[in-house]
Amino acid sequence: MENVVIIDCGSQFTQLIARRVREMNIHSVVLSWDARRERVAEFNPKGIIISGGPDSVNDPDAIAVDRRVLDMGAPVLGICYGMQLLAKTLGGAVASGERSEYGVTRVRRSGDSRLLEGLPEELEVLMSHGDRVTSLPEGFRATASTEGGVTAATEDRAGHFFGLQFHPEVVHTEHGRDVLRRFLFDICGCAGDWRLEDWVEGAVADIRRQVGEGRVVCGLSGGVDSSVAAALVNRAIGSRLTCIFVDHGLMRLNEAKHVVASYSGMGLSVRHVDASALFLDRLAGVTDPERKRRIIGGLFIDVFDAEAAKIGAVDWLLQGTIYPDVIESGRRKGAVLIKSHHNVGGLPEHMKLRLLEPLRDLFKDEVRAIGRLIGVPEDIVDRQPFPGPGLAVRCLGEITRERLDALREADAIFREELRRAKLYDGIWQSFCVLLPVRTVGVMGDSRTYSEVVALRAVNSQDAMTADWVRIPPEVLDVTARRICNEVRGVNRVVLDVTSKPPATIEWE
Ligand code: XMP
Repeated sequence: MENVVIIDCGSQFTQLIARRVREMNIHSVVLSWDARRERVAEFNPKGIIISGGPDSVNDPDAIAVDRRVLDMGAPVLGICYGMQLLAKTLGGAVASGERSEYGVTRVRRSGDSRLLEGLPEELEVLMSHGDRVTSLPEGFRATASTEGGVTAATEDRAGHFFGLQFHPEVVHTEHGRDVLRRFLFDICGCAGDWRLEDWVEGAVADIRRQVGEGRVVCGLSGGVDSSVAAALVNRAIGSRLTCIFVDHGLMRLNEAKHVVASYSGMGLSVRHVDASALFLDRLAGVTDPERKRRIIGGLFIDVFDAEAAKIGAVDWLLQGTIYPDVIESGRRKGAVLIKSHHNVGGLPEHMKLRLLEPLRDLFKDEVRAIGRLIGVPEDIVDRQPFPGPGLAVRCLGEITRERLDALREADAIFREELRRAKLYDGIWQSFCVLLPVRTVGVMGDSRTYSEVVALRAVNSQDAMTADWVRIPPEVLDVTARRICNEVRGVNRVVLDVTSKPPATIEWE
């Protein structure tokens, strides 16, 4: 199989590079920066990409790539930190902290370039660096620069080394994919004959190898990720997988019933545990978002623990963790904690289960494509993402049965109206949030003093960034009227018009 090796120097975007490579039907392997030449050689790479990273190459303890990796015969593309590392290692110089550039910047091409051939003379690109290359190694030339004179792209005359100070992997860089395509196809000579089917085959083989004769339990949430993970493991080890569906009482209207019915149609062995009383009890009086998340995460594990003990002799816990969960939970070096996603994090010591996370390098839309490929029903694959802590993070303030019921009804109305307007299926996520804010209203001749529902609808490709959806005013109007008329305890509806960043998709 044709491989491209991506050497990870700690960038937030490393898996996005891997994804872009997959999109071009090329298989890639992400290796840590400290991989030795011998390890890289195992993959017989057609090309090597060195990622960005948070370090400065001038720091005495900055991470460095095995020098011998650069001379393996495969073309090397350094991105951001990767370019600085190449420059410094091959005899150039990098200056620290003089002028940093963050955000979208204009760069201008200069002279011929194999990497940038066919692209416009000027490009808008995403830069995110504090250091800059001040002197190029011998045999290198700059092929693009910023308005401030910083080298934005470079390559050597022999056509072996390439460097980009900007990030071609992000959507904010114009022609970013074209640049990667030129590197992979024209420079590395990749054929691009790898398919998603190959990923499934590889994943099934990996799961069999990892699990051996062991038994696996899986927490099914009704969401796309855990369902696809379960279907995949089911394909690999069949009846040695037992799924547990924990109903935490924080699902949407009629959701639990619907989900359990769908799973039985998929041939999965599912135990349905109604733990709603336990969860709601422990959440009583809790208002802090992170505390809610921690309580729910902890209880999930407790319930699993108890159920797994009933099944007996279980060795593995399967989780549908996907890449954005890993990044946002700050488990990688250099990444900060945004929210502790409840399906990510440590298991209690006493629970001697090992974690199986076959989807942890993938993005949501890739998980959906794989789900379709392995026969997960369309109504599950197509479901909008729903957070593990469920309505707890949409019911701001105190969680009570009454407030959850109000939120469920409002949410069902919003969904119904979006469906009626044929908008629902095209939206990444749409939901209601119940705010612990009371405002004055008037119903008939009476004064009301009730809570507020916020409508949230966003479109996204991978949940890392999102734009708020412009829902037609007529749909908003009928939704707001219905919520105020039909939902007890709500007299006002507002619309969230914030994108991510600066907001996150969920309110908590
Ligand atoms: P945010 O709110 O961080 O959400 O922009 C990004 C995506 O993740 C979902 N989400 C979660 N999913 N467990 C999950 O499985 C969680 O704890 C969790 N919190 C947020 C959110 O709905 C969105 O799709």
